[in-house]
Amino acid sequence: TRDKVSTLLLFGATGDLAHRMLLPSLYGLHADNLLPDKFRIVCTARSELDDDQYRASAVEALKEHVPGSFYDPKTALIFSRRLSYVAMDATKPEGFKRLAKTVDPDAGLAIFLSTAPSLFKQTIDGLASAGLCGLRVRLALEKPLGTDLGSSREINDAVSNAFPEDRTFRIDHYLGKETVQNLLALRFANSTFEPLWDAAHIDHVQITVAETIGLEERGAYYDGAGALRDMVQNHMLQLLALVAMEPPAEFDATSVRDEKVKVLRSLRPMRPDDVGTHVVTGQYGDGAVGGQPVQSYEAELGKDSATETFVALKAHVDNWRWAGVPFYLRTGKRMAARKTEIFIQFKCVPHSIFASRGARTKANKLLISIQPEENIRLLVMAKTPGLDREGIRLREVPLDVGLADAFADHRRRIAYERLLLDLIDGDPTLFVRRDEVEAQWHWIDGVRAAWNEAGLTPMPYGAGSWGPSAAIALTERDGVHWHD
Ligand code: BG6
Repeated sequence: TRDKVSTLLLFGATGDLAHRMLLPSLYGLHADNLLPDKFRIVCTARSELDDDQYRASAVEALKEHVPGSFYDPKTALIFSRRLSYVAMDATKPEGFKRLAKTVDPDAGLAIFLSTAPSLFKQTIDGLASAGLCGLRVRLALEKPLGTDLGSSREINDAVSNAFPEDRTFRIDHYLGKETVQNLLALRFANSTFEPLWDAAHIDHVQITVAETIGLEERGAYYDGAGALRDMVQNHMLQLLALVAMEPPAEFDATSVRDEKVKVLRSLRPMRPDDVGTHVVTGQYGDGAVGGQPVQSYEAELGKDSATETFVALKAHVDNWRWAGVPFYLRTGKRMAARKTEIFIQFKCVPHSIFASRGARTKANKLLISIQPEENIRLLVMAKTPGLDREGIRLREVPLDVGLADAFADHRRRIAYERLLLDLIDGDPTLFVRRDEVEAQWHWIDGVRAAWNEAGLTPMPYGAGSWGPSAAIALTERDGVHWHD
């Protein structure tokens, strides 16, 4: 799988993801000279466009979505010459025959399905019957890969009929984020943290993925999914797995993914009796985000709905390293601020020598901010300067590493740049293996089954807040505060 491909075949090339992420990422790779000289990008979708029309629309998309000063009209024009377009309907065989005349699978081909999952099976069958899944062809798939374990298996079965696992690249774009990969560097390229990275030293872990955006015209998909399936099943469980996994022997696809799967399989199944204390769901009502009034979820959607736009969970990784350490997860739309972070609270000192002098010691905390800030911050106790006769005062102070400052000379990349490059190079380390995605669904299905049995319904929260108050109670019950 490690040989490079000469062509990328992109399905769904007129879609939102292609415009916002994929074309700008490919442009980034082109501008940085990371694409092979003769590398072609064959784009397909249903709209009847010719090459020139598609190229023009691609340049428009680049203008709009390439970050900041990195856009250069001349580079965009040269890049657009790599693009060609084939109009086709993935539900009919003719289009695949035309594609087969345009691309040469023996010269190495990467296929990227950025279409509705309902088209995956037909597309794969079409590719197979047109001879477009030979030994030098690899396939990348966007989420959602199913809505539960059963449907995810169906997709995986359909894929595996034509593409063996080592040529299947399941995307979780969080794995393409620099700061997410940095978690691995922090843990495994330093000797300081790993000896403390266990139940003996860590009190609890919090993972927050808060968004300020709402439904964003994705009602048809989102209302059928909800926050648990949209965010927890994939991105949040990936973050959890990277935090909790054992050190892999090497940074390669098998070692890394083996360790992540072990964590996912160690997640304690949710029981209906746990739901009251371990899960809170919510749905946003009217409110304000960043000072702007915003509508409720149902108003945006245009109908009543029982879909959760927020979920908070208390999870446990039942293995030797993490026994008894709660992992609190929360994610939501229309929250007070956009932030993705991992917060690790260590245990308090076993005995405070300062207590008799009236000073309180707080537990050390490690905050890994993934976005929008990219920081690593360790909170430590320090003595407040002064000549107090009566006692001593202590204060929590940060040891800060601003990654954006430390690497100021590096361009901030789109997560898909990493993933597309790895797809072209054939490196699946940062892609999700079948057993991984199925372990994720297995746990998520259990959570849903438990909450259905317990009759859990989403609680209202004001848009622009940190979620329903019950989410605060979920941690306070354990004497833990969410890090806000
Ligand atoms: C997607 C979800 O997978 O991730 C979206 O479907 C969500 O609902 C998005 O908004 C968040 O990604 P990011 O990179 O903006 O954190």
